[in-house]
Amino acid sequence: MAQQITDSIYWLGVDAPESKSFHGIESPFGGSYNSYLILDEYPTIVDTTNVPFLERYLESLRSVIDPHSIKYIVINHVEPDHTGAFDRICTQCPQATIVCTQKSKEFLEAMFTFENKVLIIETETELSLGKETLRFLPDPMVHWPETMMTYAKDAQALFSGDLFGTEIAHGGSSYDQLRTQHGLSEEAFSAMTKDYYALIMRPYFRAVGKAIDAVDTLTLSSLFPAHGPYYTKNISSIIDEYRRLTHTPEENKICIIYASIWHTTEQMAYKLSSEFEKQGVKTVVYDLQTTGMVRLMREALTSKGLALGSLTMMGSVHPLYETLFRFLELNNQKKKPALVFGSHGWVSAAVSYLKKRLEGLGYDCRITIDTRFRLHPDSEEKIRSSAVSFLEQINES
Ligand code: FEO
Repeated sequence: MAQQITDSIYWLGVDAPESKSFHGIESPFGGSYNSYLILDEYPTIVDTTNVPFLERYLESLRSVIDPHSIKYIVINHVEPDHTGAFDRICTQCPQATIVCTQKSKEFLEAMFTFENKVLIIETETELSLGKETLRFLPDPMVHWPETMMTYAKDAQALFSGDLFGTEIAHGGSSYDQLRTQHGLSEEAFSAMTKDYYALIMRPYFRAVGKAIDAVDTLTLSSLFPAHGPYYTKNISSIIDEYRRLTHTPEENKICIIYASIWHTTEQMAYKLSSEFEKQGVKTVVYDLQTTGMVRLMREALTSKGLALGSLTMMGSVHPLYETLFRFLELNNQKKKPALVFGSHGWVSAAVSYLKKRLEGLGYDCRITIDTRFRLHPDSEEKIRSSAVSFLEQINES
C-alpha cells in the first residue's frame, strides 16, 4: 500500500519479498521496484512497475489518487522491471503525458502500444508541476542507454533510477528505518549493495562515475532510488558507498576461489588463506562449484588481490571458470595482482590456463603454484613462500 514520505511525495511500491533473485543476484531479503507519486497541481508518477506487480501497484495508486488525475508519468529507465506494465498503466492514466528521453521514447514505442502524449526532455528541460519543478539529468549507460535521473528542485529530492539502488524488499521504509526498526546490520546491507553494484553498475563504472559527479552538484534532502529503501537521512552513506565501489573498490582482503574434486586444490586454498592471515591479511575463500557468480564477482571486485585455483580437469580448468572469467571481465579491473594455483595428476594444464586467461583480462599474474596428486612438503613450502611473494607484489602495486 502507498506510503506518504513527505508532504508531497508518496511511495507507491512495489515491494516484492517473494523475489529471491534479480538479474542472477541472490536476494534473500526479496526485492523492490520503486515508483513514486508527487502530489501537486499536476500529479506526477516517477517510474512505473512490472506486470506481476500491476494489481498491487494500481491498488496502491488508487489509495491516494484517481489515476485519471495523473498529469505526467516520468520514465527514468525503460528496463522492464520499471516498465513491464507501462502500457496498462497508461490505459489507467489516459490524461498523463509521458516524460522521458528521446531514446526512452524509441524503446517504449518498440516495446508497447500506447496513446498518451510524450514530452521529450533535453538536458536543460525543466517541468513545472505547480509548486514543484522537475529538472532532468540524463545519465546514459546507468544502466541502459536511455537512463536519466529526475530532481525535484523545491523538495531537493532526487529520483535516481537504478543508481544508488540495493536489491531488498523494504516495505516502504527508509534506510534508517530498515536499520533501526528492522535491525538490519550495516554489514548485511552493504553486502547487498555491493552485489547489486557489481552486476548492475560495475560494467558501466565510467558512466556511473559521471552520474555521481552530477549528483554531487545537487543539494539533497532526500534520495529515492528505483531499488531498495529511500534516504531522508544519511544520504551520503549510499552515495559514498557507490563512489568507493566506482573509484577504489579494493578492501584489505584477498579473495581465494578454488575448484576441487579430490580436495588437493581445496587444501591449497585453505593453506594459502592461513599463510595470508598469518601475515595479517584477511581472506575470503569460496568454492567455485557452490557459490553464486555475482558473489564471486563482488568479492573479486572488492579484494586487493585475487587467488584462483583449479584442478586439471580434462586437459584444462574446471568448466565453471569460463563463466567466472566473463564476470571478471565485467569488473573492468586492470593490473590487479593475481596468483594461480592448482593440482594435476598425469598432465599439468589448469595453472598455465588460469594464468593465460587472467593475463588476457588484464590481471598482473606473476606467481603460480602447481602440485601433483597431493600436497607434499615441497608444495607446502612453495605455498608459504608464494604467499609472502604475493603480498610483496600487492604492496608494490
Ligand atoms: Fe532496475 Fe536497469 O533496471
